[in-house]
Amino acid sequence: MGNNLEKNQNIKSSRGNWTGHLGFILAAAGSAIGLGNIWKFPYITGDYGGGAFVLVYLICVVIVGLPLMIAELMIGRHSQKNPVGAFRKLHYQKTPWQITGWLGIASGFLILSFYSVVAGWALAYIFKSLVGFSGTSQHIQGEFIALVTHPSASIWWHTVFMALTIAIVIGGVQKGIERWSKILMPALFLILLGLMLYGLFFTHGGIQALTFLFKPDFHKLSAEGMLSALGHAFFTLSLGMGAMLTYGSYMRKNESIVRDAITVSILDTVIALMAGVAIFSLVFHYGMKPGQSVGLIFKTLPVLFAQTGPLISVPFFILLTFAALTSAISLLEVVVSYFIDEKNWSRVKATLILGGAIYLTGILSAVSMWTISFRGKQQGFLDIFDFITTNYMLPIGGLLTCLFTAWVMKEANKIEELGSKGFLYKGLIFFLRYITPIAVLLVILNGLKLLPFVDYK
Ligand code: PFF
Repeated sequence: MGNNLEKNQNIKSSRGNWTGHLGFILAAAGSAIGLGNIWKFPYITGDYGGGAFVLVYLICVVIVGLPLMIAELMIGRHSQKNPVGAFRKLHYQKTPWQITGWLGIASGFLILSFYSVVAGWALAYIFKSLVGFSGTSQHIQGEFIALVTHPSASIWWHTVFMALTIAIVIGGVQKGIERWSKILMPALFLILLGLMLYGLFFTHGGIQALTFLFKPDFHKLSAEGMLSALGHAFFTLSLGMGAMLTYGSYMRKNESIVRDAITVSILDTVIALMAGVAIFSLVFHYGMKPGQSVGLIFKTLPVLFAQTGPLISVPFFILLTFAALTSAISLLEVVVSYFIDEKNWSRVKATLILGGAIYLTGILSAVSMWTISFRGKQQGFLDIFDFITTNYMLPIGGLLTCLFTAWVMKEANKIEELGSKGFLYKGLIFFLRYITPIAVLLVILNGLKLLPFVDYK
């Protein structure tokens, strides 16, 4: 049996390294698919009014996200470096373009600090599901409020989640995570599929959910909504902070960057839309409001789970936590890889010190009562860090990466990464030179309400 397995693997690797290729797709999809798809996409879609927001988000994925993912993978694979080292290697040691890498490391640090708090809620809900949800829907929704407003509970679950992330990054990501990904990612897909079909065919909210998600009403689309749709395209595809660049640096030369980028983007988008349909069907079925901000999935899904029992809810929250973990690892890996490569720190030292610092910063987000005035409102740190990183830091990081690839990176290097100088190459460079940066810039200026030809009233 063991021998056969070995033989099989040999045959596969001599036929083109199928195992290695799947490993990359899983790692990259693992980074992309996370809380962004199941927690964030539905709630921001609810907050920004549905269909028109979804449409702008889908356009951003195609004209901004996909070209940028290809660009990050090209830079990573060609340089074989971390996000700062990559720009130094492909340009020169003191190049100002390394700021892009620095910005990415800062983004990874801040994103992980609040991401871990939300992932901690998912972890807490595994245990809540074991006990089971019961009572009226108000009562079930109240449990979430109790968790969030109870600082010691939130900090405890944040601690557990960060400890898991740190342990995995110290222990080496490849083996454990890759092996588990192969089982758990498909399982997540199946459970989501089940929840979506349930929502569509067994609740009264299915049609309303589809209408809400796919019928655009442009009156509901604000300048801020457009900026958030762009920001979310970055967040959900793990772009603009060097995560895909870092993963690209582990990619083999004989794999097609374009094909892999398309695969990862499609998987990520499909999962988000499925989560949207599943959740909004329930929201409408129970007559709830779609704009419930960060609490959306933690308040609506448990109402259904009260009927289905732990058999569905426990696996769901385990898988959600797992999806968050594979993303959190990539966030920490970006920060840590810089200190290992460029500062010669050991992996253990870099992971403990930076993971520890991120953990402490995360406490700010875990205590929801701590608020400061931000953009004219009292807001908690979770929302503020999320807003700044998603809407500004990632798009600016992405814009710089795109300009670097289009205008600065040597043509010979780009051709080597894409395999030929044909139609694909020309089309991609055209996008990266003109379409993608202009789209990003327009959306950022729109979010700042600075476009002269728009009436911001
Ligand atoms: N893409 C992840 C999600 O959708 O949950 C979040 C994320 C991971 C963002 C890694 C950025 C990143 F580099």
